[in-house]
Order: sequence, then structure tokens, then C-alpha cells
Amino acid sequence: MEVRKLHPIFGAEIIGADLSKEPDQALIDFVEEAMKEHIVVCIRGQGHIGDAGHLRFARAFGPLELPPGYDQRKDQPGRMAPELYDASNLDANGEIIDPASLRAKFSKGNELFHADSSFNDMPSKWSMLLGHIVPPEKGNTEFVDLRHVYDELPQEKKDQIEHLVAEHSFAASREKGGVKSADADRVRSVMPGAKQPMVRVSPSGRKALFVGSHAFRVEGMDDASGKALIDELLAFASQPKYIYAHKWQQGDLLIWDNRCALHRGTTFDYARYKRDLRRANVNEYGEERSAVPTATLVPDAPPARKTA
Ligand code: OGA
Ligand code: MN
Repeated sequence: MEVRKLHPIFGAEIIGADLSKEPDQALIDFVEEAMKEHIVVCIRGQGHIGDAGHLRFARAFGPLELPPGYDQRKDQPGRMAPELYDASNLDANGEIIDPASLRAKFSKGNELFHADSSFNDMPSKWSMLLGHIVPPEKGNTEFVDLRHVYDELPQEKKDQIEHLVAEHSFAASREKGGVKSADADRVRSVMPGAKQPMVRVSPSGRKALFVGSHAFRVEGMDDASGKALIDELLAFASQPKYIYAHKWQQGDLLIWDNRCALHRGTTFDYARYKRDLRRANVNEYGEERSAVPTATLVPDAPPARKTA
């Protein structure tokens, strides 16, 4: 196995990994080491491992965080394994969803820089996104390294945020993404959010800034000043010179560390091209469960039973 860098600051590709069999300790250690250093890792050509291989590989690195509504989804067979998050633009039958639908509007929120599950009170580790169908143009996923961003912050900003804690909420990021407040309020009622320090120590030992689109308030600050600080830090982190844009190839398995990387989707011709990305999430430790037991108010709804 071999590692090749994808961007001057961070990101790498692992070449020569065989995911078609139970991962052995050598493979697990190799991926852990690569992730510690590069924080975004791509393993290409993995479409053949399917949902079962995807889940087996993910579970080698920690307990799964199951998607919202897993308990209902598991009894309602859909297009993909119920343990996976559906990050596609497809319905239960694999057809493109209406770009004006509520689910499409919710997925638009992914186009703001975020760390997955920062609104959940669980020890989130990695996301592992597998591209089964990718659009022929656009629809890149963009990343920034929050360790590098932290290093680049002016010293007075580092001092200001050192002990600050931000509140994160899924409803807040969807509102920022343009979802109506009535729809966001329904989400808020089942997903209360979580508090996160604004500076974290990443697995490499380097400090990392920790904000993203789910952050909306800072403890000890009035709402407007907290929001202004979050917006300022996000604008700083989103500078083009810090961004690695991943151009998807079919079969790419893209892994990122949610503790020290931000990511965002980018637009593509949503009504024209299928984009079938499926995501496994792992926590650092704990039981394998969903942070959000009910799916009824969240448009990441269980796929309807196949009719065909
Ligand atoms: C995700 C996500 C971005 C994309 O799956 O968590 O934010 O490009 N995806 O689809
Ligand atoms: Mn995401």
C-alpha cells in the first residue's frame, strides 16, 4: 500500500488497499495512520464492495452512528442498507427527486461547510462516503483542514476562542441553507443540538478550530455577537487557498475526520444527473445506535417500500 498526497495542505489517496475481504490489522493500522496525518483519505475503485462491504470496513474503525429513524428504516427495506445515510438525490426507486421537494431543500444545506453530526451529543469520528453514481460534471465535495486553519489564525483570535463553547444544531444549519423556519422548528423539536468546544485537539495532537454551519450560538455571548464570531471564523476557514475540492470518480470511498475537517457539497445539475452517494459514520466509542430515534419529522426519511 502507498499514500499519495491530494493537496499541498492535507488529503491523500491510499493505493493498493483491498477492501473486498475482512480488513486485517495491518490495513486498519495503515488507514488509521494515514487519517491521523492527512484527515481526508480517498480509496478509489470500491463500488464493488457494496453496502455490506462498506459497513464491514466502517465497523473496523469504530461503532457505527446509525442514521435518524434507523429503528423504522430497518423494517422497511429500501434502496440501501438501513445503516447507511442516504446522501443521494434519488428516491426509493432510484429516480431523481424533485429539486423543489423538502428533502432536496434539506440537502442544499450540505453546501455550507460543516462537520457531520456536530449537532449530536455523540463522539463522532469519521464519515465514509462511497460514490456509487457520480455526475459527469460538478458536484465536487470540498474540504478544509481545521488544524491548518487554526495555525493560520491571528494570535488574538486564538486567545479569544481558546475556552469558548459553541452550540450546534441541525435545524440552525438548515435554516441558514434556506429551509423555512416552520420546517426547521419541527427538526428542532426532535434534535435539540449539542455543545462543542471551539478549539479541539485533533488525533495528531495538533489543535484544530471547531466550527461549522451547524454552530449558531456561543456560550457567554449574546446571540448576535456569537453569530458574528462564528461567521467570521467560517469565512476565514473557507478561503479558497485552504480548500481541497474532490472531483468524484465512480467507486471512490472518501473518508474524513469530522473532528478536524469541514466539508461541503457543491452544486450540480440536480434535475438531470443521478448522484448516489452513501455514507457510513463511525464514532470513537460507545454503542452502535442512532442519535435520533425518530425519523418522522426529519426529511432524511426512511425510504418508502419499493413498489417495483
Ligand atoms: C455528507 C455531505 C456532501 C456531498 O454526505 O455528509 O455533506 O458532496 N455530502 O454530497
Ligand atoms: Mn456532511
